[in-house]
Amino acid sequence: MTNLTIGLLGCGTVGGALVDLLDARRATITARTGVELRIGAIAVRDTAKHQDRLADPSLLTTDTAAVVADPEVDIVVELIGGTDPALTLVRTALENGKPVITGNKELLAAHGPELYAVAAEHGVDLLFEAAVAGGIPLIRPLRESLVGEDISRVMGIINGTTNYILTKMSQEGADYADALADAQALGYAEADPTADVEGYDAGAKAAIIASIVFGVDVRSSDVQHEGISSITAADIDTAKRLGYVIKALAVIERADGEVAVRVHPAMVPTGHPLANVNDSFNAVFVEGATVGDLMFYGRGAGGGPTASAVLGDLVDAAVNVANGAAARLSITEKVTLRSVDELSSQYYLTMVVSDEPGVLAQVATVFGTHGVSIQVMEQSGTGGDAELCLILHETTEAALHATLDELDGLNVVRGIGSVIRLVSDD
Ligand code: NDP
Ligand code: HSE
Repeated sequence: MTNLTIGLLGCGTVGGALVDLLDARRATITARTGVELRIGAIAVRDTAKHQDRLADPSLLTTDTAAVVADPEVDIVVELIGGTDPALTLVRTALENGKPVITGNKELLAAHGPELYAVAAEHGVDLLFEAAVAGGIPLIRPLRESLVGEDISRVMGIINGTTNYILTKMSQEGADYADALADAQALGYAEADPTADVEGYDAGAKAAIIASIVFGVDVRSSDVQHEGISSITAADIDTAKRLGYVIKALAVIERADGEVAVRVHPAMVPTGHPLANVNDSFNAVFVEGATVGDLMFYGRGAGGGPTASAVLGDLVDAAVNVANGAAARLSITEKVTLRSVDELSSQYYLTMVVSDEPGVLAQVATVFGTHGVSIQVMEQSGTGGDAELCLILHETTEAALHATLDELDGLNVVRGIGSVIRLVSDD
């Protein structure tokens, strides 16, 4: 029997759920692994808030550094979030020879490769299953089971908050602000929900996926990201009418030695498996050269599901400590990022034009000049103005933006409305 003491940093949505889950599963874990896990200290900002909730409030402290330095603490679990003081705490714990479990994607997407190197140098685990796609086991399969695969693309829904908001807007006609407030109340959103709705959270997760899958150094700042805050109820209705549903997607791909990582809203055909991933669920497709297509699906946010991922890592690290082992992760390659201009996609776009003879010809000429091909065009509205809804064949960002700039300069174009990427049927 090995007895190990955990220093828990943060006892909010995820940390609190972890305390409960560990209590519920301790005996089974001990029986199965021969390791007994005990929480020795819990660091928070405000201990008063947690006094009544915890079975043993004497574990509470505000001194995070003391928890990390405590020689009695064998494993550190970081569930504070953000980079300060999390970076210093995680690095110090690793330097002190303590394995670290974290759910902190912001930290890993900004400083992951340095921290993986510190962990390797000190021969300890740095595990972060909870950082990407909440409760879904994804990092371990990518890092271990699929390490021999030549993976070309990973695509999926990796933010629970935005998927919850888009689902409520689409299925119940909910207002954006109300849906966001619900997602916050349910514990899905980040401390600052701008991270969710503007795509930073998904961008951080996408950078981590790219690093793991391709073994390359990709940071948040390398990710092209767009949020969902510009998506309107009208976009959602039009998408529905055309046979699509709007989802916030992450796409991580490698081709010709270059890596492209982007997150953005997209219109997904209703028959596509991602169209039916709703509420706080996440789903991730992995395309491997030998294994073929894989899909991972489950709860992407929330205290319980995320605590489950943290506990899995905790048991893994504990068993490694008991056996004197550690998992290694090395990010060796520098990567060439594909220029944003070269990224290509199908697009849906709307514009308001004056409703007079010859207008469509002028508009179509601009598309043709830039080599952008129109798949579907619909006109609606009466009176002086008309709204055009177009679906474009696949085109590059550079060609699309050149087209939009020229259209914007035409007298007959009153304004460009929505511009949303589209996932094709095939
Ligand atoms: P919460 O905001 O609910 O909890 C944060 C906890 O950290 C609180 O207990 C807070 O103390 C404590 N804390 C914050 N700053 C400090 C500090 N400087 N010193 C000491 N304690 C501090 O966050 P979550 O539990 O939702 O998230 C934690 C981490 O897990 C984040 O990295 C998040 O991105 C990640 N994550 C969250 C998921 C989710 O669904 N919520 C899913 C996947 C990952 P106090 O309680 O006193 O305020
Ligand atoms: N805020 C994140 C989300 C939590 O909504 O997906 C899980 O990482």
